[in-house]
Amino acid sequence: MKSIASAPGKIILFGEHFVVYGIRAILCSIDKRITATSQFLDEKIVRVRSSLGVSEVELDSLNNLENRQQKFMRPFFYIVKKAFEENSTVKGIEIILESEIPAGVGLGSSSAACVAVTASVNGLFNKLSKDEIVKRAIQAERTIFEQNSGADSSVSTFGGLMSYDLKNGFQNIPSRNDLSFIISNSAQIHDTQDVVRQVRNFKEKNEDIFKILCEHEIEIVNNATTALKENDLNKLGLLMVKNQELLQQIGISTEKIDLLVREATRTSYGAKITGAGGGGCIISLVDDSNRKYTLENLGKISDCFLAKIDFKGLIYE
Ligand code: PMV
Repeated sequence: MKSIASAPGKIILFGEHFVVYGIRAILCSIDKRITATSQFLDEKIVRVRSSLGVSEVELDSLNNLENRQQKFMRPFFYIVKKAFEENSTVKGIEIILESEIPAGVGLGSSSAACVAVTASVNGLFNKLSKDEIVKRAIQAERTIFEQNSGADSSVSTFGGLMSYDLKNGFQNIPSRNDLSFIISNSAQIHDTQDVVRQVRNFKEKNEDIFKILCEHEIEIVNNATTALKENDLNKLGLLMVKNQELLQQIGISTEKIDLLVREATRTSYGAKITGAGGGGCIISLVDDSNRKYTLENLGKISDCFLAKIDFKGLIYE
């Protein structure tokens, strides 16, 4: 028996970094997915296969994962451990991951993988609800990134557009906006925790400036919420450009990112970093009138692809 589930990646439209200091962010899932296929094995091992290679542990070692070298595999072994504790089985398990989402560039690939693996592994026993899956997936991610807000896993599980802030948590934005983005990859791998730390240093050295930047960000996010309701692409694009200027001021852009944003804004409605920055990806807002030019333009200097909002979230295949 095979249990198959898939979950989408995400982009942050507005508010990354400022969200760490209590400001509302807006994010959405995208139509690029990770698929996890799980099946039982006769051998008493847990094996994870992905484009990054094969990783295996014996069932008896599942309680002792802290010292393992491939840290990024830890959440998957945690998910299996929990499922086995609840369903007391003695079989092994193999998980195969297939991804359409580039890894390590702010598109939520690790959260999507955790959501898909949680659904796929538990689907071998009995299917969990989306609420149960998102909780488990967040716990799994926290085995490697303790401060994880859970925003990525939530949007990956439920799909669509949502806002997130520290006080109110996640709120679905009930919209059917059919927005299209060109995602362009700087190919500069970033470490989210390092970039978040760098922004904290900036804030501590520039408290007054940071306060003003936060006020600007609040205004941008509020205006973006209205622009989304009105489906006003011109306004949304301008707000993305303004948001990018704030991200530049807190020091998380790079020369390559600046170049990509400059080129993207020549043909699209607007462009900005998505996620932690310090490399990673930019998004540019397009529609049928400018999609082709933007893809051609950015394609000369980066790997890029078209993405739309995904409204499905987690799917059991
Ligand atoms: O690069 P990503 O997609 O992991 O995004 C990080 C978003 C931050 O606001 C920089 C950090 C966070 O935990 O919200």
